[in-house]
Amino acid sequence: MDYAATRDEALARVADAQDLGAVEALRVELLGKSGSISGLLKTLGGMSPEERQALGPQIHALRESVSQALGEAKDQLESAALQAQLAHETVDLSLPACEALRGTVHPVSQVMDELAEIFADLGFAVATGPEIEDDWHNFTALNIPESHPARAMHDTFYFPDQMAQVGQKMLLRTHTSPVQIRTMLDAVKTNPGGAPIRIIAPGRVYRSDSDATHTPMFHQVEGLVIDKGIHLGHLKWTLETFLKAFFEREDIVLRLRPSYFPFTEPSIEVDAGFAIINGKRVLGGSGDAPGHGWMELLGSGMVNRKVIEAGGFDPDEWQGFAFGVGVDRLAMLKYGMDDLRAFFDGDVRWLQHYGFSAHDVPTLSGGVGVRP
Ligand code: DAH
Repeated sequence: MDYAATRDEALARVADAQDLGAVEALRVELLGKSGSISGLLKTLGGMSPEERQALGPQIHALRESVSQALGEAKDQLESAALQAQLAHETVDLSLPACEALRGTVHPVSQVMDELAEIFADLGFAVATGPEIEDDWHNFTALNIPESHPARAMHDTFYFPDQMAQVGQKMLLRTHTSPVQIRTMLDAVKTNPGGAPIRIIAPGRVYRSDSDATHTPMFHQVEGLVIDKGIHLGHLKWTLETFLKAFFEREDIVLRLRPSYFPFTEPSIEVDAGFAIINGKRVLGGSGDAPGHGWMELLGSGMVNRKVIEAGGFDPDEWQGFAFGVGVDRLAMLKYGMDDLRAFFDGDVRWLQHYGFSAHDVPTLSGGVGVRP
């Protein structure tokens, strides 16, 4: 066999190939699995050692030079194609760029991020619980037994009886307080003697209620501290520090009023002083000053012994405080929105107006935007 002639013929065909498709077809025909040159390589196996010694290098050299020629042809055609493209494609840099459509961070998400950041500084972790709760976690464990009048205050959305689980009626949680119970029970599981707890639990809650200031779904943030020797002073300082940081005002003045919640004892309602500026209520200063007033901000108190017990802790050893705040209301107060329903209408114009840029505002989550 005349390997030199085979090589010359193959190289001539490669040189003739006009486009990348032709080069690839040649590669398959000559060097592919059942290509003609690959076939020659296979004949080595059937040769005597002497023959193989004489012919082997020739066949390998043949393969090598064809393979190299194919590679070069491919490179040349590719770079010619690129040159041709560059020659006829031009970019008009004077055209205005298309504005990238970008979503905004909803004020509720923004406020939840702010809360998580403020409380992280105070040593609080973020806890969560299910929105579909059972009667025990939502009511009973929080010292709201079956016939308790406080149940009526909650206008609960119940699931049909057939959906009961482990003998418990299921419902949409009416507040974030059940996360208190879940957090305590979890803590006791990993630490049977109990352990200090500092959490906030932001999330959705549901009540059958709808007007300008009530929507069937809204947001709360729960706070819970369980430790030894916790007293009202800790609660007062924590709320004051949180509200001053959140509203970014040192002059926030709080008024603590006795109240009643089944899960706290004593229970305290917290009001903040406001002034009326340009017809709007603006937090700051004492509510007793002329032209000022007090507005109710949140519910709180020392955790009821029965709740500490339901959470698996020994109430003689562990004490705590808790609070619950409406997140939507905090957002409305801080950012000056007056209709709660607009929060959940999903009107893009409202979101563009009141939403936050994911890039400008430092938040824990960075919002929903894509970072550049
Ligand atoms: N769960 C109460 C509600 O939804 C709010 C609340 C009040 C939570 C006092 C607390 C608390 O943790 O201590 O109306």
